[in-house]
Amino acid sequence: MDEFHATNRDHWDELADLHPTTEFYDVDGFVAGESSLMDLEREELGSVDGKSLLHLQCHFGMDTLSWAREGATVTGVDFSPTAIETARELRDEVGIDAEQARFVESDVLELPDALDGEFDIVFTSYGVIYWLSDIDRWAEVIDHFLEPGGTFYIAEIHPVVGSVSETNEEWARFEYPYFSGEAHRIESGESYAGDGLENKTTFEWEHTTGEIVTALVDAGLEIEFVHEFPKLCYERFPTLVEGDDGWWRFPIGDPEIPMTLSIRATKRA
Ligand SMILES: C[S@@+](CC[C@H](N)C(=O)[O-])C[C@H]1O[C@@H](n2cnc3c(N)ncnc32)[C@H](O)[C@@H]1O
Repeated sequence: MDEFHATNRDHWDELADLHPTTEFYDVDGFVAGESSLMDLEREELGSVDGKSLLHLQCHFGMDTLSWAREGATVTGVDFSPTAIETARELRDEVGIDAEQARFVESDVLELPDALDGEFDIVFTSYGVIYWLSDIDRWAEVIDHFLEPGGTFYIAEIHPVVGSVSETNEEWARFEYPYFSGEAHRIESGESYAGDGLENKTTFEWEHTTGEIVTALVDAGLEIEFVHEFPKLCYERFPTLVEGDDGWWRFPIGDPEIPMTLSIRATKRA
């Protein structure tokens, strides 16, 4: 693992301890039977019943286990040892069999060294791509683990969102570059769900929509669709308003920017 990813892992290891205690993640609701998945990925991916599903960057496993509740045999991967340990504990607490849901500790870019097999579905979502230094390697790893005919699906925060520093009722300030291949060093003791972190340093990378799609095509995948939506799964900007459907949008009348990106692709049979 390179030093940038190792620094990010320290940050995420601390978050994996903090996040299960937050209102944002609502672990009690999940244990009581609620799904942590958004309607978008459930509708766009379709039924996972009876399928094998590899979940990249699974955090402490709530989405992975939600797919298991829908009938998939799941493998969650994350580089944070605390996240993986917590995911296994949560699996046992909600009574899902270890044969139906397993969790593997690995950097996504090094996963072929840690895991064997091929999967019907490779899934990843919301807050994943900008943690990765090498988008071409990421796409190769996805291709490596897909069965011929298998499906890749991602629902992600749109890369444009990373360029916006603030918004108000009238405008969004585009302060950060959309195009950049270099690692951005960020110092922040808080996440979207909590604060008070000691490991404040992280490194993030801009990967444009074009780079993401092209990396998947170059890896050999056939793109089925690329969708963009003017809604986000969390309150990124204070002017966003939450709808009854759990999505956050700019108030009606504000200019809309793409805030969520979804892609579905197939590995040729
Ligand atoms: C924003 S979270 C994903 C959130 C997920 N949608 C959820 O809400 O549970 C990002 C995850 O990526 C993981 N991660 C970041 N870089 C990684 C890498 N290089 N390899 C594996 N996991 C990584 C972090 O540990 C974290 O669990």
